[in-house]
Amino acid sequence: MKKLRLHLCFSTYMLASLVSATALAAGPDYAKAALDMMKADFKAKGPATMERMVQQDEAQAQCSANPQGLKPKLAQKLEQSQLSTIKYPADGQYMGDWKNGEKIAQNGRGMQSSDAMGSVNGGNCYACHQMSKTEISFGNIGPSLYQYGKLRGSSPEILKYTWGKLYNSQAFTACSKMPRFGHNGVLSEAQLKDIMALLMDGESPVNK
Ligand code: HEC
Repeated sequence: MKKLRLHLCFSTYMLASLVSATALAAGPDYAKAALDMMKADFKAKGPATMERMVQQDEAQAQCSANPQGLKPKLAQKLEQSQLSTIKYPADGQYMGDWKNGEKIAQNGRGMQSSDAMGSVNGGNCYACHQMSKTEISFGNIGPSLYQYGKLRGSSPEILKYTWGKLYNSQAFTACSKMPRFGHNGVLSEAQLKDIMALLMDGESPVNK
């Protein structure tokens, strides 16, 4: 429990999935017991609300109920419904400022009990992805994104896919571990554009 608590303090994005994954793996009665314990033990503070811990939307709930993975048909259905949530940039312009994007990718703060209400969130991309040659501290839950733009190019299809993946990762991988940055309001449209530039711009450290 102590270890789990530590995790929960640090993980801003995966509270609900952690709770339910831990709980559901052990069986339905334990699931309820674990959830009750969470509700009793944790107190909302600042932007770290109880809702995020104990309320799951339908997509999360389906993934939690199937920790071994969704059947292909169900996965496809979930991806379709998540795809329909994606809002593409209103002005059709995908690229922002990669320098700002790099700061957002490095920033792991946001929506934690120690953050001020209304403070700007980071994307914490390095926690899961290699992105540049210069930053050697990175996680590997996600694939390396080093040279992403160089390898993929910046065709309209790639821009659209990449934006969509950032906006709502579950539209492409039903039970993705990657936060749904746009869908859940973690990053703003302007921040997503800066991240797009980080991934795509030839001058950004991702493509050097
Ligand atoms: C908690 C871990 C996690 C975080 C944080 C995270 N990602 Fe991901 N990301 C993943 C995983 C896992 C995948 C592999 C596909 C999947 O399962 O969704 C992925 C896939 C991707 C892809 C698709 C790669 C491809 O080859 O198609 C892109 C682009 C991406 N992430 C960008 C980002 C950016 C940019 C950020 C920060 C704003 C970020 N990710 C934050 C876990 C994460």
